[in-house]
Order: sequence, then C-alpha cells, then structure tokens
Amino acid sequence: MKGIILAGGTGSRLWPLTKVTNKHLLAVGQKPMLYYPLAKLITAGIDEILIVTGVEHMGDVVNLLGSGKEFNCRLTYKVQDEAGGIAQALALAENFAGSDPVTVILGDNIFQSSLADHVASYMKQGLGARVLLKEVHDPHRFGVAQVDSGRVISIEEKPRAPKSNFAVTGIYFYDADVYNMIRKLRPSGRGELEITDVNNAYITKNQLHFDMLTGWWSDAGTFESLAKVNELVLREPPL
Ligand code: G1P
Repeated sequence: MKGIILAGGTGSRLWPLTKVTNKHLLAVGQKPMLYYPLAKLITAGIDEILIVTGVEHMGDVVNLLGSGKEFNCRLTYKVQDEAGGIAQALALAENFAGSDPVTVILGDNIFQSSLADHVASYMKQGLGARVLLKEVHDPHRFGVAQVDSGRVISIEEKPRAPKSNFAVTGIYFYDADVYNMIRKLRPSGRGELEITDVNNAYITKNQLHFDMLTGWWSDAGTFESLAKVNELVLREPPL
C-alpha cells in the first residue's frame, strides 16, 4: 500500500490567505495543514508517499517536508501543471504507484480517527475502491452518497437537493485500475476531472465499498471550516 496526498488547487475560497501560499501550508493548530494527512498515513503504516501540488508552491512544499526523513517516511513529489481536478491530480500517481493499491487523502481533510482499520478493511476487500462516509449537516458542500441495503448506489457532487446527509470524505482507497478509469473520464461542468465520477465508475462495476468514519472530520477549504478544524485540532494532543 502506498499513500498519496493531493495538495493542488488554487485555494480560491480562502483568498487572500492563499494569494502567496498554498492552502495546504496554512496553519492548523500548531502545524502546517499538510502535517495532518501525512501523520495519518504514517501511523497507518504507509511510509511511501507521493505529494501532488501545483507548480507555484511546489518549492515551498519541498522546503517544508524534504525527503520525509524527519517523518520516517519516503516522499516523492509530482507537479500538477494546472488545477484540472482531483482525478487529474490522482492520474499523476500512476508511475509512482505502479500496480500497488493506494490510500488517497485530500490535503485539506483533517480528522480524528486512525486509518489503520480502514486500510486493513481495504486490503481484505482486495480490489476495487473504498470510500469513507461521514454524516454532516451541510451535505450540499460535498460529494453525497446514497446508501441502500449497505451499498453506495450513487454519489452526487455538491447536489442542490442532497439525497442523504452522508458526505464522501476526501479519503479513498483504490486499486491500480483507477488510472484506466480516469483516462475514460470527461471534464465536468466546471471543467475538472471529478473524483466523484471515478467513484461512480466503481459503483457501475459493483466494486465500491464504504466504511463510516468515526470521530470528528472536516475539510479546511473555507474560512468557516478552517476555523473549525483549528479549534478541533487544538483540543487533541499535539502531533
Ligand atoms: C472534494 C470532492 C468531494 C468531497 C470533498 C471532501 O470537494 O470533490 O466529493 O466530498 O472534496 O473534502 P472540494 O471541497 O475539493 O471541492
């Protein structure tokens, strides 16, 4: 199992905090945001990790994290030339991951629980995809899963009328088929290759499973959610 942290995007919802830096370098608690997904991968036993970010701030990201030696992991970096969506960023991991399964975390997803049990469940599953769901009060901000008889039957990206309160968190497990599936995607209305379309393709193949994520979870992509994760993280023991 290898790990991938997707840390691209323009951070437009956090402007002007993101005018001269990357969203994922902003402070959360006592540490830069990126430290949190990195720690989650490492404590789940994943020590070969790829970080994908945009060309503008790659230098700062490398300055911050280096080879990974300080964190007891091995880091690799890939540049996403333009902000073309999460699935486009994931496609850049193909050479790094080879035929290995991957745990993918969106760099602005901050959460309380360990990923170890979810990694184990995915390894047992053996192929296909696995997503982690979390009940939220504002599902329209996320990918929303419709669950029936213990299966995810559809996922809608930021729906106006959500069919459930189950957000698809930015924590995903995939087999090496994911790159072929991304090659078949077409850009969405907002011109991006959507991770939700990848997950729906796995649903079509009957190969998408899920776990509920326990403990608190939030993205940190808006002023409100960034303030919230700061508060939550400061209540936890420091990393
Ligand atoms: C992305 C995904 C969405 C997911 C969310 C989790 O949205 O597109 O499906 O629920 O991350 O944080 P974004 O917030 O990047 O627009």
